Formats: sequence, C-alpha cells, structure tokens
Amino acid sequence: MSYKRTEITADQVSEQLNICDRMRAFYASRNRQPLAMVDTFGCQQNEADSEKLRGYLNAMGFGFTMDPEEADVVIFNTCAVREHAEQRVLGNVGALNHTKERNPDQIIAVCGCMVQQPHMAEKLKKSYRIVDLVFGPHELWRFPELFETVATQRHRVFEITPKDGSVAEGIPLRRDGSVKAWLSIMYGCNNFCTYCIVPYVRGRERSRKPADILREARQLVEAGYKDITVLGQNVNSYGKDLEEDVDFADLLKMINDIPGDFVLRFMTSHPKDATEKLFQTMAECEKCAHHLHLPVQAGSNRVLKAMNRSYTREKYLDEVRLARTYMPDLVLTTDIIVGFPGETEEEFQETLSLVNEVRYDAMFTFIYSKRVGTPAAKMADPFTREEKQVHFDALLEAANTISAEKHKAYEGTVQRVLIDGADGRGEWNLTARTKGGRLVHMKGDESLVGTFAEVKITDSNTWALYGELV
Ligand code: SAH
Ligand code: SF4
Ligand code: F3S
Repeated sequence: MSYKRTEITADQVSEQLNICDRMRAFYASRNRQPLAMVDTFGCQQNEADSEKLRGYLNAMGFGFTMDPEEADVVIFNTCAVREHAEQRVLGNVGALNHTKERNPDQIIAVCGCMVQQPHMAEKLKKSYRIVDLVFGPHELWRFPELFETVATQRHRVFEITPKDGSVAEGIPLRRDGSVKAWLSIMYGCNNFCTYCIVPYVRGRERSRKPADILREARQLVEAGYKDITVLGQNVNSYGKDLEEDVDFADLLKMINDIPGDFVLRFMTSHPKDATEKLFQTMAECEKCAHHLHLPVQAGSNRVLKAMNRSYTREKYLDEVRLARTYMPDLVLTTDIIVGFPGETEEEFQETLSLVNEVRYDAMFTFIYSKRVGTPAAKMADPFTREEKQVHFDALLEAANTISAEKHKAYEGTVQRVLIDGADGRGEWNLTARTKGGRLVHMKGDESLVGTFAEVKITDSNTWALYGELV
C-alpha cells in the first residue's frame, strides 16, 4: 500500500487534553455546568467516535443532554452511506434554527463521514449559517483544539482536508452503557466497493497495535463489561499494515484469553478474505459468539464484479458451508443492496435464490443510493425507483419469512443469554441477547441487567425471541 501510516503522538494527544483543562476553566466562570448534546447517525464506528467526543467534552466539564433546547453545544456525528442518512442529518440541523435564535451562544458542530465530502461541507458553509464547526473523521482526535477556536474566537471553523488517516491512542472515552462496549481495532477501508463512499471519507485501512487493543479490552473486562464488540469496516484485513505478524484470528484468540466472563463479537467481515483459520478460531474460542455478519451484497456474479467485491457467489457459498461445518449453530447475518445500477430481473432473482439457499438469521437490505464521486455513480442506471422497490419488497418478505422460521426453531430450547437492558416496554421489561446475538424479550427484575441467565424460549416472531428465566 502506498500510503503513510500516521501515528498521533502521545504528546499531541496530551496537548488536546491540556486544551480540555483550559476549556473547563473557560466554562467554570459560569454559574452552571455546560451541557452538550451528541447525536450520532450511521454505524457502530460512528457510535464509537461519539464516545470519544463525549470523552473530550467530559474532560472539559460538560454534562450531557439529548434536548437541543438546553444544550450549550450540539454535535451531529453524521453518516454518508446513503442519501436518506444525509437527509436526516440536514433536517436535524435545520431544526436548530429555532434553538439558536433563542440562544445565540449555542455552538453547533457537524462532524463525521457526511462532511468529509467536499460538496456537503460546501452546502453547510453556504446554506446552514447556524453551523459553527465542521470537521471530518480525520480531525476527531483534535476536537478540543477546533472547539476552543470556535468557543473563544467565535468564528466558523471548517476542517475537512482529505487525508489517508491516522491512529491516535489515549483519547478519553465516555461509553454509553456499562454492559456492552465497542472496541475499535482498525479504521478506514481499502476495498473501494464501487457503490460505497466509506473509503473516500474514512481514509485508508489502518490497524491499532495489538498491545493497545488488549490493554483496552482488559480495562473493559475489569470495569465489568460483559459484551465486547470488536469493530472495523473489514476486520478480516486486521494487521496487514502492521510490522508485527498478527492477523484477525490471532487477535480474537488474544482477547478471548483475557480472564473473565464475557461475550466477544465482531463486525464486519468481508467475504473476500474470511479464512478457515478464522472459523476455526471462532469455534475454539469459548467467549467468541458464533455469529458472522458476512455481507454478500448481491447474488449475481456480474453484479458482484461490477461492485468490485472480489468474490463470486460460489466462493461465498463455499465459505458459508465451511463456517457452518466448524460452527453448526452459527448465526449468519448479511447486508444486501437491491437495484445496483443495471441489476436486471434475472440478477435480482439470483440474489433471492442465494438468500433462500443460505437462510440468514437476519438481513439488512438497502435500495442502492447513488454516492457522489464513486464509480457506480457513473454507471448507467436504467431501472426506476418503483421497479427497485418491487424487488426490495420481495427480498424483505423472503428475509422476514426465513427469520420467523429460524426464530420459531428456538421455541422450547434453553439459551444462555446476557441480559443487557431494562428499557423494554410493557411487561417484557428486559432485553437480552443469545450468544449468537439474537434479541430476547423477557420479564424480570432490573437488577439482572449485566448478568448471564438461562432462559427458556417460549415464543417468537420475525424480529425477536421471548423467554422466561429457568
Ligand atoms: N464495511 C462494511 C459495510 C459498511 S456500510 C462491509 O463491507 O461489509 C453498511 C452497508 O451499507 C453495506 O454493507 C451495504 O450493504 C450498504 N451500502 C453501502 N453503500 C451503499 C449505497 N451506496 N447504497 C445502498 N446501500 C449501501
Ligand atoms: Fe464500503 Fe466495501 Fe469498504 Fe464495506 S468493504 S466499507 S462496503 S468499500
Ligand atoms: Fe456511515 Fe461513515 Fe459508518 S458513512 S456507515 S458512519 S463509516
């Protein structure tokens, strides 16, 4: 790979923490604690980034709110993966016209993937005058510095220079829950699937060092987290850019070997380089969930090639078979795009037949969304939105039928689950996850949150299982 891997030094991060101290003093002259609202759009990577923003804000003395009326600072951490995600962000930003009118001191920031696209940053600059600060994913590590400029000098700051990306250690994190935690192991993507904006906005693939990841994982286990999800756009490429000879399977094994009772999950795996070694490691590691999120995207080889996915339908199906021989209880989920430019009726039928052959436990289905600057945006796209919608509905119907059947098969079985939430509505007040990651609704005392339990599955539907403690 012909790019430079940049490490942000410990000194650079500690300079940011010094700025946090200055900001704390800056706000201390007021008679109340300043409040920040951080609203996250997009994937788990973005959730993990928001935890860093909150970590920095926390170091500056901020409290947190989700009410824009009372927030001194509002940050939208945005997504660019589909047009719908962008429209939601812009709608939310526009709605702040009112709060800013009432509170002109309010600072409004928009960061994340959407703003790393020059046309979007331009749009915010020109048409959303209430926005004070715009910065892309590459600048997140120096949020305190950017924020200080806006807060103390009150002029607009836009920081979206394209970069290959860096790795920064030691940024404080303020995690959302106390049971489940995200653990980023790598950033960026090198795959350049022709429909996808992520490589353009997130930069090149770069791995954190195993020692840094293991230190964070140990801290999580010591802090009592019971469910650790390892994150990367393509975790199967982990380590390829490191000097150390370590791959993703090795890393999983190292995390698995940390003493403690926890479940180890990961996402996402790219089918082009999922290995037998990975499946074997998953099968052998007692903490590792037998769950693979293996996005197939399409069932036709012509479409897969046009998408630049670097595998065929046959290779994908072989991989699924191999993974299932190592883990007969494997929970398999996927992402599928319907209506990629030029996808014909026959090609869509190949996707449908693949779905019926694999029988996924759950699927995330999307209608193709044109992204500025990607190769697919220049491909002929002769089919109408309505035609694509027909395919989308057919796929969703197939997906739902299969999920419901798969869930039905759990009825009467006993599952070891992690009880992870008490925000369920009505009598099913608790939520839990099977080891494979399926959602279970149950009844019980809130104090059970964060504990493992044996649950008998009594009922199910397309989306979830229902169970009672045994
Ligand atoms: N790195 C992950 C995917 C991240 S994006 C992977 O490769 O598996 C999550 C999902 O969004 C993708 O799997 C794809 O199904 C969907 N997606 C990405 N770009 C899209 C686009 N332009 N239109 C519609 N769906 C898209
Ligand atoms: Fe996008 Fe493909 Fe990278 Fe996933 S692997 S983030 S779909 S370019
Ligand atoms: Fe969206 Fe960026 Fe994630 S584009 S899906 S938030 S990597």
